[in-house]
Amino acid sequence: MITQVKYAVLPVAGFGTRMLPLSKSVPKELLPLANKPCIQYVVEEAIAAGIEHIILVNHAQKQAIENYFDINAELDNKLRAKGKDELADSLNFLPKNVSVSSVRQGVPLGLGHAVAQARNIVGNEPFAVLLPDVILSPFSTDYKTDNLAKMCQAFKDTGKTQILVEEVADSDVHKYGIARLTEGRSVPVGQTGAAVSGFVEKPKLEDAPSNLAIVGRYVFDGAVFDYLKDAKPTVGGEIQLTDAIDALIASHGVDIMVMTGESHDAGNLTTYMQAFIEFANHQLVGIG
Ligand code: G1P
Repeated sequence: MITQVKYAVLPVAGFGTRMLPLSKSVPKELLPLANKPCIQYVVEEAIAAGIEHIILVNHAQKQAIENYFDINAELDNKLRAKGKDELADSLNFLPKNVSVSSVRQGVPLGLGHAVAQARNIVGNEPFAVLLPDVILSPFSTDYKTDNLAKMCQAFKDTGKTQILVEEVADSDVHKYGIARLTEGRSVPVGQTGAAVSGFVEKPKLEDAPSNLAIVGRYVFDGAVFDYLKDAKPTVGGEIQLTDAIDALIASHGVDIMVMTGESHDAGNLTTYMQAFIEFANHQLVGIG
């Protein structure tokens, strides 16, 4: 029987070189979008989709991320002694049924390698992967029923791995994993159940089979770990998650879902600053 997707893997070990100098000593995942660090939006998205175990794939120099999800008892006591219970509660935002664990990726061998490090915790269970550079806009009123939640439900219904994609401009296809659609299939926005015949990682425009790019949200059948175990470095000399997805397509079938709403790239200085302005404006309107 296929059960609820309970695990989410968040690869956070990268150095964030596109965010320097900001990311030199502060992990890029802890940089703010308005009043919260980027990673909090991603964790809240996972929790809204029913995830109960968050697994950080981390690096020794980025322990500040783990600390962010811990309780700072000294600060907590101090705030409560001053009657600031509401503020103290907001810092301990993880629901009681949600836990955060951490594993290490000591060597930067690629996204596929990062995800593989979570196997000892996840076992053979299905799991989500959320790339924390990508923040899906939390301003939609329908947020709780949005993309990841729909993908988890679709996995529960079909047992098939789900990949979130979004249409990108021709000038951006070289940055992403690009979907090759199954012949004759159209893919309506927000609907699950569209089959895909493969992915090409970071193609040149002339080699791109479509403009549908992987957004950074996946719901995997646990079988993907078997393919990651055997995966060899390919594009960019890295072990690519897309290669394991292609193997999974051949053995189990994979569906894509076209994203609803808006995504923000918080891993690039220009788009991060644009996102900051948008998030801050929402926050200020909320306060006003
Ligand atoms: C990764 C994936 C790519 C995906 C992208 C989304 O690339 O390899 O398939 O489209 O994330 O952000 P990265 O941005 O880590 O180079």
